[in-house]
Amino acid sequence: MTSIGLIGAGMIANIHAEAAKRIGTSIAVVYDPREERAQEFASKHSCDAVSSVEALLAREEIDGVVIAVPNDRHAELAIVALNAGKHVLLEKPMAMSLIQCDEILSARNASGKVLQMGFVCRYSPAAVKIKEIIESGLIGEVLHIQATLLRQRGIPGMGGWFTTKARSGGGCLIDIGVHFIDLVMHITSKKKPVRVSGKCTSAFTEATYAYEEMWSTPVRNGTFDVEDRVRALLSDASGTTFQFDISWATHLPENTMKDGLLIEGTLGSLVVDLWANELTRGFSENGNPKSEIISVELNDAWDDAFDSEHRAFAQAIETEQLEVGAGSGEDGKLVQSIVDAIYASDELGREVNIEQ
Ligand SMILES: NC(=O)c1ccc[n+]([C@@H]2O[C@H](COP(=O)([O-])OP(=O)(O)OC[C@H]3O[C@@H](n4cnc5c(N)ncnc54)[C@H](O)[C@@H]3O)[C@@H](O)[C@H]2O)c1
Repeated sequence: MTSIGLIGAGMIANIHAEAAKRIGTSIAVVYDPREERAQEFASKHSCDAVSSVEALLAREEIDGVVIAVPNDRHAELAIVALNAGKHVLLEKPMAMSLIQCDEILSARNASGKVLQMGFVCRYSPAAVKIKEIIESGLIGEVLHIQATLLRQRGIPGMGGWFTTKARSGGGCLIDIGVHFIDLVMHITSKKKPVRVSGKCTSAFTEATYAYEEMWSTPVRNGTFDVEDRVRALLSDASGTTFQFDISWATHLPENTMKDGLLIEGTLGSLVVDLWANELTRGFSENGNPKSEIISVELNDAWDDAFDSEHRAFAQAIETEQLEVGAGSGEDGKLVQSIVDAIYASDELGREVNIEQ
């Protein structure tokens, strides 16, 4: 049986532990500097809590670790874990700069261990289906994708590390935007976006925002120095365009727009809610516009996605190779390069090239 450790015992670590257990991976050990949290996690998931990362990595029975900590610790902990000879499932974003991504990639290459990125949206049943449809040629060449991820009240832990640039690297773009940037590159296999124009803004403050149950714990009068919305338009060398409309919070009525994709191809289109059990295909019949519903098989789309991510990680541990279709370190670096370019475009007020 595959046995793993968890570095970090926060919100997403609990979701990883549930998914890992569902697919038959054993959780052996957890470390979190907040001792109480680690103890609570250990009793909930029947594993040991240890008092340092070193103690966790010294455990011989674990083959892999999930790193689920604030973004500013990703690079350092991924490198330490790889150097200790563990396979790593690293939560998104990969890091906070391209230099850190390169340092992680060097550690992975030197260790010969697997680095899998936590790009879980790739595994949503709808995402798996649309990748299949695009690859079958049914909608022809992809010309444009609009990716929309708009929450009503979804600022995670307002005032805490998520909204503190020095700890998170940015706001909704580096938090949730990275999922959709990766997803769009993954389903289209378009790996070379070259230019981007982006605009980041903030509409909410602690005074104008009612905190509902959300990721992480809010901190009253804490720091909020990141964007809560971003709009970006990218193009690749072939002229394909990608538009990202991402917000942590909006005044939109509930469910106005889904976590969704609108994909336009030369022969058809797809309108997709990432977590739904059906999607719509638009096409042409004798020159007339037509549409059809395509079903997507799922149990619980969110759990299904995390289960598949953990199946891929267990497989990677067993074979010592990243599973085909899983997020690689190179994919993580590509996403980082796009994120950096969007922030640079926003700062400079003009379109910029994407450094790769
Ligand atoms: N895949 C997803 O859908 C998804 C969703 C939420 C968060 N995330 C990512 O997961 C990571 C964690 O997010 P979260 O929501 O669980 O945050 P969180 O604040 O709930 O938990 C983070 C935990 O990490 C612990 N921690 C801090 N420094 C540590 C260290 N050096 N070693 C071990 N633990 C340490 C904290 O004490 C805390 O318990 C972030 O990178 C975030 O971007 C991914």
